[in-house]
Amino acid sequence: MSFNLSCFSALLIIGGANAILQYQSKPLITAENSKFGPFIEGTSVDREGNVYAVNYGNNSTLPTLGRVTPKQSLFYEDTQTPGTAFNGIRFGIKESHHHHHHKVAYVADYINHRVVKVTVDSHGKTVGKTHCSNPKFIQPNDITLARNGRMYLSGMKFHQNTQIGDGDIWVCAKEGKTKRLDVLGRTNGIELSPNDKYLYVSEAIDRDSITVSNKIWRYKVHKATGEISHKTLFFDFATVNTADLNIDGIRSDIRGNLFVVRHGGQEVLKISPKGEILASIKLSFTFPTNIELAGKHGTTLHIVGRCGINTPDGEGVGCVDTWENDVPGRAWSLLQ
Ligand SMILES: *[C@@H]1O[C@H](CO)[C@@H](O)[C@H](O)[C@H]1NC(C)=O
Ligand SMILES: *[C@@H]1O[C@H](CO)[C@@H](O)[C@H](O)[C@H]1NC(C)=O
Repeated sequence: MSFNLSCFSALLIIGGANAILQYQSKPLITAENSKFGPFIEGTSVDREGNVYAVNYGNNSTLPTLGRVTPKQSLFYEDTQTPGTAFNGIRFGIKESHHHHHHKVAYVADYINHRVVKVTVDSHGKTVGKTHCSNPKFIQPNDITLARNGRMYLSGMKFHQNTQIGDGDIWVCAKEGKTKRLDVLGRTNGIELSPNDKYLYVSEAIDRDSITVSNKIWRYKVHKATGEISHKTLFFDFATVNTADLNIDGIRSDIRGNLFVVRHGGQEVLKISPKGEILASIKLSFTFPTNIELAGKHGTTLHIVGRCGINTPDGEGVGCVDTWENDVPGRAWSLLQ
């Protein structure tokens, strides 16, 4: 989800025991060759390591899902459902009785309060159908998929003064049944740990339309029921003087390190499972929205967002940068 931010802060490195390694990502798709709009979001990976994102086209084509790699092209478009606006995406595997693997993409439609399941038929044509929906979902914004097919959803709405209930966490069972698990301030990034033991969710708070807090919470996930409990503070961006910068997409690698998008900060941070900042990855654009580890070995971080340094919300086109991690991502590994 993008935000209206008129200014952004630079990273402040606080002196301490651990040095934060500094990196610069490489441009993959630039303003010159982009076929994506400025609402590019929901970076995700399939079994082959290909990358996908929403808003293929321009700033008015919101019901689209495009391939970022190997070549920019349209993957799916909902031409039937009025208002459809896609955001978070995750790929799963559907195994047929012949043990063939079929691609399945789950896409959050934040306007129609549903998750659409996109499958590829025998002619290679993509077909979409509602997987789960609930008019009580605030959005959903982003989604994360567990090994057992359960899906966790986050959503948010803006108020001048954020209230508890402006953000929500839902679980959607494999067969589509939904249940609200918690309410918070504005929730956005959502990700499971590699063993599905923990759920990470971001929360932002605004006061008089100024963002004053950004935190990541960690819940314990109950394997049998899918319920969450033991909410604990995992990371508070006030400790690195960037409480005013919104968290967007979050993804984990197989070691449980989290990659966290700093929307408006031109940066992605790599944070260890203990909550230590390991690396700062500086980007070629200011407003990243989402990320995923992909590529042949699942180790290439793909960062998407609107191109440029101070491009206003909704203007310009969608950019993609890459950065090489030492180990593969959780989502890619789950599909192998
Ligand atoms: C966006 O793309 C659609 C589909 O290609 C096209 O019909 C429309 O005119 C474009 N809108 C703008 C504002 O460029
Ligand atoms: C789409 O882009 C055009 C040209 O930059 C701009 O005038 C318009 O407001 C944008 N639309 C949205 C929905 O942001």
